[in-house]
Amino acid sequence: MSDALLAWYDVHARDMPWRVSPADRAAGICPDPYRIWMSEVMLQQTTVAAVRDYFHRFTARWPTVRDLADAPDEQVMGEWAGLGYYARARNLLKCARVVANDYDGQFPDTYDALLTLPGVGPYTAAAIASIAFDRPETVLDGNVERVMARLFDIHDPLPASKAQLKARAAELTPQLRPGDYAQAVMDLGATICTPKSPACGICPLRDPCVARQAGTAPELPKKTPK
Ligand code: ADE
Repeated sequence: MSDALLAWYDVHARDMPWRVSPADRAAGICPDPYRIWMSEVMLQQTTVAAVRDYFHRFTARWPTVRDLADAPDEQVMGEWAGLGYYARARNLLKCARVVANDYDGQFPDTYDALLTLPGVGPYTAAAIASIAFDRPETVLDGNVERVMARLFDIHDPLPASKAQLKARAAELTPQLRPGDYAQAVMDLGATICTPKSPACGICPLRDPCVARQAGTAPELPKKTPK
């Protein structure tokens, strides 16, 4: 299944300013961990469309993590204005200073070490480890949860089913190209396996998808009412 997904991603990967395309990555070009980290922190509670301009402004003004670490707090907070969830901006600066001072300006390259950084939780640590360092860590966000629930027709409601969905996502994570795989699942969830009216007809996983066969895709994942 991950082969079919990667083949789809090779053709349909969304263009994002922090991404290295599948072709460039195959040619040996590596993503910049600083840019991956910044994009993932910005994307935590914000859409790709809203993040784009902020990402360009931040990386133009502070091209490296050391530049950001040296920036005065009020400049960074000012540049963040409008993105919301301002604790993210404070942690962004805190994290930049930890990486600059304690890690010699190089982001750590393992899930466990990334998890110790300010503002980096399990989702973000897995995203950076896989996308920036090609480690086979499993990224679980809302898109991935939806894709797994449908692929395996899991009707147990969220949030109780989270561990089960994560286990399925982990099983599918390939040792080769785990970073592209993580981004492929997220892109699939954002563009084809969408919450309402998923485009099953053009999905690269339509054959193995159990929910598509059962006709239950649009109603998954189930959620326990708050
Ligand atoms: N959402 C958050 N991070 C993403 C990424 N790297 N690719 C696609 N969607 C995302």
